[in-house]
Amino acid sequence: MASPVIDGRYYLSYEQIHTTIRELAGQIRADGFDPDVIVAIGSGGFIPARILKTFLKKPILTVGISYYGPDNKPAKMPRTIQWIDEVEKKLAGRKVLLVDEVDDSRVTLEYCLRELLRHGACEIAIAVLHNKKKEKKGKIPREIHRYFAGQELEDRWICYPWDAEDIGEHQKKAGGPGGPAPSPTA
Ligand code: G4P
Ligand code: MG
Repeated sequence: MASPVIDGRYYLSYEQIHTTIRELAGQIRADGFDPDVIVAIGSGGFIPARILKTFLKKPILTVGISYYGPDNKPAKMPRTIQWIDEVEKKLAGRKVLLVDEVDDSRVTLEYCLRELLRHGACEIAIAVLHNKKKEKKGKIPREIHRYFAGQELEDRWICYPWDAEDIGEHQKKAGGPGGPAPSPTA
C-alpha cells in the first residue's frame, strides 16, 4: 500500500486519525483501564482527546503545555500555558487518562505526568495517537504502568490536519478521503 510520506514527512487525514483513535480506545478497553477523566495536553492533544471521548465517554479536562516554540525548535523546558486550579481540584484520587497527539522526545509527557502525580491522581495511563520509535529524553515515572499508542511510527515529522492552512492540499498529500494509513516502515 502506498504510504503518505512526502519529502520525508507523514501526512495524516482526519479520517485516518479517527480510525486510529477508535483502535486506541479498543486497546484501552481491552486492558480494562476505566478512567474517571481524560486529561488532554493542549494544544496537540485536544482533537485526539475529543475523538477518544466519543468512544470512552468520559469528561475531558485540559492543560496547556508547550515545548516547541513557533519555529518548531524545542525550548529549554516545557512551558505551562495553562494549568487551571479547577483541574487540580478534580485530579485528587482520580483515575486519569493523559492524552497527547505524539510521543516524541517524551519531555512534555514526563513533565505533565509528574504534575498529575503531584496533584494526587491515584492512577494514570498514557494514550498517544502516535509514538515515534526513537530514544526518549523524558522518562515515564515508575508509578505509571499503562501506556497506549495508536500507532508506532518512524522518527519523521508528522503533519496533522489541524495544522494545515490549506486542508485541501493536506488532504491530497494524505491520500484523499479514506487514504491509506501510514506505513510504520515507510
Ligand atoms: P512529548 O513529550 O509528547 O514527546 O513531546 P515533546 O516534548 O517532544 O514535544 C512536544 C511538542 O513537539 C509538541 O508541540 C508536539 O506537538 C510537537 N511535535 C513533536 N513531534 C511532532 C511531529 O512530528 N509533528 C507535529 N506536528 N508536532 C510534533 P508543542 O509546541 O509543545 O505544543 P502544541 O503544538 O501541542 O501546542
Ligand atoms: Mg506542536
